Amino acid sequence: MDGVGAMTQRGDARIRELKEAFPRAFGADPDGVWEAPGRVNLVGEHTDYNDGFVLPFALSETVQAAVRAREDRTVRILSGQQEDSAKVDLDALARSDALQPGRRVSGWAAYPVGVLWALEQAGHRLRGMDVLLGSSVPTGAGLSSSAALECAVGLAAAESAGIELDPLALARMAQRAENDYVGMPCGIMDQTASTTGRQGHALLLDTRSMQLEHVPLELERAGLSLLVIDAQAPHRLVDGEYADRRRQCEEGARTLGIESLRVLTDQGTTPEELDVSVEDDVVRRRVRHVLTENARVLEAAQLLRDGDPAELGEILNAAHVSQQEDFEITVPETDRLVETVLQAGAWGARQVGGGFGGCVIALVPQDAHEAVVAAAASQAERRGLEAPLMLTAEPAPGARRTA
Ligand code: GLA
Repeated sequence: MDGVGAMTQRGDARIRELKEAFPRAFGADPDGVWEAPGRVNLVGEHTDYNDGFVLPFALSETVQAAVRAREDRTVRILSGQQEDSAKVDLDALARSDALQPGRRVSGWAAYPVGVLWALEQAGHRLRGMDVLLGSSVPTGAGLSSSAALECAVGLAAAESAGIELDPLALARMAQRAENDYVGMPCGIMDQTASTTGRQGHALLLDTRSMQLEHVPLELERAGLSLLVIDAQAPHRLVDGEYADRRRQCEEGARTLGIESLRVLTDQGTTPEELDVSVEDDVVRRRVRHVLTENARVLEAAQLLRDGDPAELGEILNAAHVSQQEDFEITVPETDRLVETVLQAGAWGARQVGGGFGGCVIALVPQDAHEAVVAAAASQAERRGLEAPLMLTAEPAPGARRTA
């Protein structure tokens, strides 16, 4: 099991390795290394694009970008995790209409190139650079490896060109890259968690006003830990389903004659009232999830302010049921894993992230830790799989220059 100490040490080793690999790739030392974290979300799924509330925190797992500025406007990007590389001309990128089919870089490189595109489109003039990427954020696990990649490259590119971007502006650039370059209609949660995370704190974010509050998340002191466990579910049509949910929420808001589903929280609407006002069963359940999920976020934030994280368990459980029954974004593998860890003594558990697979988070009291880990491992074994990735999530700092 990963302790924080172990992770920090590994983090330092990763940076050293990246700095050593850089001259082999590009023939000279890097000017610096920037990194941006993945995130877990305590609660608040699919509320961000509904102007709602979320409560994520940044992880110790990061994407790192080692960068050396060039004299021209060429950007070359290599990744320790990928075989192919990307090469783009910033002038061409600044002029390009990425929304035209066939104009974009595809695959993993769309994320870093997309953020350069967004910065240039916003009028920032970047410098050419050689970029070598490293990552410790598991991919496809609902831990926002893509937001980490966008934010690491965005921050490195901006600072290498002497551009000062505040963390929220950087998050917006990264979201624009993902929405308009990659083509994934995500909200602003992941990028904001990655740029504004604070050690030892979760982030209560109002995605409408973009007001943030860092609330202390002191699990260890309460004898608890938050385990992240990969459910090892095969990938399903995630992007299409995500966009569908978004459309259904918009339809709900239209039906109710409100600007966004967040308004229901402001108005103090009750779930029962929705039964009369939204006729379509699917849309009503989607709306109900968003309404009850916003309430869960606010309740969870209050528990943390009161120093009472043990009570989070109930909220996680209710959130999972809502994702399962009302929003329909869980899969049998995550449902089963949630049941298994609860039976083994976790106080609460739910699927985390955009959905349709990925990881489960579990709130685990110290004395049940071993039993929960063993139960998750033996469930995987029964399925003929290797022990799943498990890590203890600890709130870590947001995007920064590290070397
Ligand atoms: C993905 C998106 C986020 C958010 C979550 C669901 O991670 O990138 O904006 O909508 O799904 O809460």
